[in-house]
Amino acid sequence: MKRFAIFASGSGSNAEAIWQAIADGQLSAECVLLVTDKPEATVLDRAERYGISSFSFTPKAYASKEEFEEEILVLLRTLRVDYIVLAGYMRLIGNVLLSAYPNRILNIHPSLLPAFPGKDAIGQALDANVPTSGVTVHYVDAGMDTGPIIAQASVEIEGCDRTEATRRIQTIEHQLYPRVLQQVLNQQEVFK
Ligand code: GAR
Repeated sequence: MKRFAIFASGSGSNAEAIWQAIADGQLSAECVLLVTDKPEATVLDRAERYGISSFSFTPKAYASKEEFEEEILVLLRTLRVDYIVLAGYMRLIGNVLLSAYPNRILNIHPSLLPAFPGKDAIGQALDANVPTSGVTVHYVDAGMDTGPIIAQASVEIEGCDRTEATRRIQTIEHQLYPRVLQQVLNQQEVFK
């Protein structure tokens, strides 16, 4: 069974959807670590409820991204992590992790990429008055939400306020991400 770590910076609703999918037997993989760059993030409480070990760090306490990624990498190697799953991790992944995990880092983003990359994708879509936005799961590269797309789902947001658009998009995220992880993590096993 593949082993993965979740990286998150915020509420952790996607992380919880993934942990719940494992608990429900819909995702056969093992989440062995939560990494967060926000020691106060709510995702830590959710991790505790699911019995997931966590590592939280303060980026400013390090001289560089390389330095904290090296420390994280030691942990990932110790725990024999196969994949990194970004779930609301609001930080670009640097060369240390990208070269240690080529094509083994996934991200979810709340828009139909390449539309509305970066921060506040839902706000960007509402400001642009598009009737439809959605969700993208993609491999991570050095760019901002630019890696190869694995799966997308559309969400109607016409006439929605921010709360409703967020609710609709996150509902789809919580369904899509565990499904894609099940395919991606276990597909590779078939060829091994
Ligand atoms: C999610 O909507 C995720 O797609 C987004 O952050 C939110 C985290 O929510 N990620 C990005 O915007 C990445 N560019 P959560 O903490 O409740 O899972």
